[in-house]
Amino acid sequence: MTRAPSPRWLRRPHDAPAPGFAYGADYNPEQWPREVWHEDIRLMREAGVNIVSLAIFSWARIQPAPDVWEFGWLDEIMDLLHAGGISVDLATATASPPPWLTTLHPEILPVGPHGETVWPGARQHWRPTSPVFRTYALKLATKMAERYGDHPALVAWHVSNELGCHNIYDFSDDAARAFRIWLAARYGTVEALNHAWGTDFWSQRYTEWGQILPPRLAASHPNPTQQLDFKRFSSDALKEHLRAEREVLYRLTPEVPVTTNFMVMGETKGMHYADWAREVDFVSNDHYVHPGPQGLDELSFSANLTGSIAGGHPWFLMEHSTSAVNWQPVNLAKREGELARDSLLHVAHGADAVCYFQWRQSAAGAEKYHSAMVPHAGPDSEVFRSVTRLGALLGDLSEVAGSTRRPARAAILFDWESWWASEQDSHPSSLLRYRQEALDWYSAFLALGVRADVVHTGAELAGYDLVVAPVLHVVPRALAKELNSFVENGGHLVTTYFSGVVDENDHAWLGGYPGALRDLLGIRIEEFAPLPDGRSVTLDDGSTGTLWTDPITLTDDTVEVLASYTSGDRAGRPAITRRAVGRGSAAYVSTRLGAEGVRGVLARLLDGAGVSGELPAPARGRVELAVRGHGATDYWFLVNRTDEPVELPGVDGTLLALTAGADQRSAGQPLVLGPRGVAVVRR
Ligand code: GLA
Repeated sequence: MTRAPSPRWLRRPHDAPAPGFAYGADYNPEQWPREVWHEDIRLMREAGVNIVSLAIFSWARIQPAPDVWEFGWLDEIMDLLHAGGISVDLATATASPPPWLTTLHPEILPVGPHGETVWPGARQHWRPTSPVFRTYALKLATKMAERYGDHPALVAWHVSNELGCHNIYDFSDDAARAFRIWLAARYGTVEALNHAWGTDFWSQRYTEWGQILPPRLAASHPNPTQQLDFKRFSSDALKEHLRAEREVLYRLTPEVPVTTNFMVMGETKGMHYADWAREVDFVSNDHYVHPGPQGLDELSFSANLTGSIAGGHPWFLMEHSTSAVNWQPVNLAKREGELARDSLLHVAHGADAVCYFQWRQSAAGAEKYHSAMVPHAGPDSEVFRSVTRLGALLGDLSEVAGSTRRPARAAILFDWESWWASEQDSHPSSLLRYRQEALDWYSAFLALGVRADVVHTGAELAGYDLVVAPVLHVVPRALAKELNSFVENGGHLVTTYFSGVVDENDHAWLGGYPGALRDLLGIRIEEFAPLPDGRSVTLDDGSTGTLWTDPITLTDDTVEVLASYTSGDRAGRPAITRRAVGRGSAAYVSTRLGAEGVRGVLARLLDGAGVSGELPAPARGRVELAVRGHGATDYWFLVNRTDEPVELPGVDGTLLALTAGADQRSAGQPLVLGPRGVAVVRR
């Protein structure tokens, strides 16, 4: 029973209170004795928790042997939560197969590219394409749906957990079989595949489907299109698993919405989430901050992109941390104000649920040093006091829930296929990092105090005045056409090095780079000129380039040179160009300028497009503005990006929440955001 999922939010039981923000955590009661459960419910109420994600890693407890089902403990905790007024986002519990299953069926274990088995002992040790695993997982999902479909605490289904976190790439024989089926559906004939993969190179011509393998360890670089298709296939294979579990749930409990937690964050790149978003009733995301100079920018970037793939509808922040994680080289505790600031920045970009991993910090296991809402220190702790304050504050903001993101005038175009393809091996440089380039542009927008949406390819561009498409490497004909029309209709497009180079089969567009965008940009490049690690070049606008340079020839009289190289082999030649096309323009940045370096050129391009910041000038760059709204009402989220107080003169409206700072407006003074503080203003 496939249904085209349209946005559906949490199911509301008859006796549910008025909608507002969902607030809570992953809850793992099986790690604790029963007496703790009662304390948990009491503390959850104290903290304002109204939802938990339950049973994510409970398979071994629910089904301790093939034909043994033990639901008693789960029934009890479901009832306790309901009695406590806490809703449940219930997992299908299929994330981590128990030891009896992998002992009985070792053929479900994933295989690495070198043929090595991924053994049990951690979690998610299953092949996405294993028919045996699928059978057991769907049986468990069926049992869960039959048992809890009518439970009044149930408000959503949570399929598996972070699909692909550890098992996105599997090179087993199951994967090989499924890959061939996927390829046959994509290409129809072996001949068409031979063409797409360019198999006349290195005598790779296939004559039968059965000869085709995943890109396992090979003597040299595996075929690039085979690699790209394997990435597409691997994302699709896990999406298929999501769909299979979802179909069971839709059949048995059609009224309960289904989600799964994405990981739109950092370098997690295996799952094409813009594509997956169509398969869930509402988008959920997990996000963990990587501390560092761009840590907060990256949080905003991820939340922003999540809001876009959610189609502008509210989404669910399924996990983030109250303080330190346990899996970075050094795990930093959050400083005062960061817990609320990080959570509210997600809300600013459209989250209607704020949940953590996890409710109570584990005493045993690999995550015992991962923070939680109730830390090892217990409720008498700053973390618990902070989460309790945030719970109350989300209550004060309840009118914001259900509002949607107000689009910005500028956007960054994010393209999963370009991310995958541009970082493959056997390229001009192995140092290129797609997401970092995109993040640098986003940081520059933040530093200039100009709002930008992060949108994925396929999203409507027509409403934007300026679109930055960094390293847009894969440009099929249709995308080239779309970008041309965007510019012809008055849009301002900015793109960078290594863009427009290949089509969807990873075949180079011929005649000079940037192939598919050459005419639009009015430039031609005969040969790539990447820079060795550690080498840089200077530009006459004062910026410095690394990673890449291009020997650019202008092919159109109307192209303006915005900056030229002043050092290196390209000295005197154009580095940044811009071609005016009617009211629009197409600009090209041929080197990596870094987060600070792109600021100058971005400011000029924004100026040319007539786009400017909405905040009072002194606050621009120090405060991030994100806007949600419904009807004629706007909500301004003002997030202090610094560790200093920031004044916000001229910001009017009703203050709904302020995490740190002071509202001095009645005394004729400005609103002040404290260090890392957040204000929400209704306008
Ligand atoms: C992921 C998982 C959780 C937990 C956290 C720790 O997000 O889904 O189960 O392991 O990471 O940060």
